[in-house]
Amino acid sequence: MQIVPQPLFPSLIWTTVFDDRDSFNSRMLQLAYQMREQHPAGVANTNVKGWQSPNILQNLPEFEDINRRIVQVCQRIGESQQFKKDLVYRHQAWINISPPGASNSVHYHANCHFSGVYYVSLQEPECGSIYFRDPRVASRMLTYPTDKATDFTTSEVRMRPEEGRLYVFPGWLEHGVEVNQSDRDRVSISFNVLASR
Ligand SMILES: [Fe+2]
Repeated sequence: MQIVPQPLFPSLIWTTVFDDRDSFNSRMLQLAYQMREQHPAGVANTNVKGWQSPNILQNLPEFEDINRRIVQVCQRIGESQQFKKDLVYRHQAWINISPPGASNSVHYHANCHFSGVYYVSLQEPECGSIYFRDPRVASRMLTYPTDKATDFTTSEVRMRPEEGRLYVFPGWLEHGVEVNQSDRDRVSISFNVLASR
């Protein structure tokens, strides 16, 4: 007798690496610190002890390159999931500079189809992982008596960030970032994308 599992309602995370990540990241890093000089107060959001820029990268010509890449990746993901062909993918993006000791508390992003983060600079593995919470809320009623968590029984998944890697996930998927325990800033660009007419 063969017992066959079938995933229902999977929570997908997409990642990609830019071929030119070394030169691209040094440009982005410079722009990130320039932006912090221009907006030293930043905004208070999910960042704990870190600095977050206002959501304005999409309006700034110097960020045209990352803006284009974000939209391009999300458009390809949307099309892979049979989104309508005539949609416009609009985004908002911002910078996070998380010094040693900083973290991002658990949150999700409302009113967007995709959210994501691109890691510009960090020190692995001490910089801390991004983690995702099980969105199957009813599954929190009890835990499974396992020796080792599986994709089905786990309640949280950690992914170690990597310089030059872009992560995209559904905006409704709860996530956070662990404390940066390295001695370098963790610098990333986060975004939300909405596809509509
Ligand atoms: Fe987020």
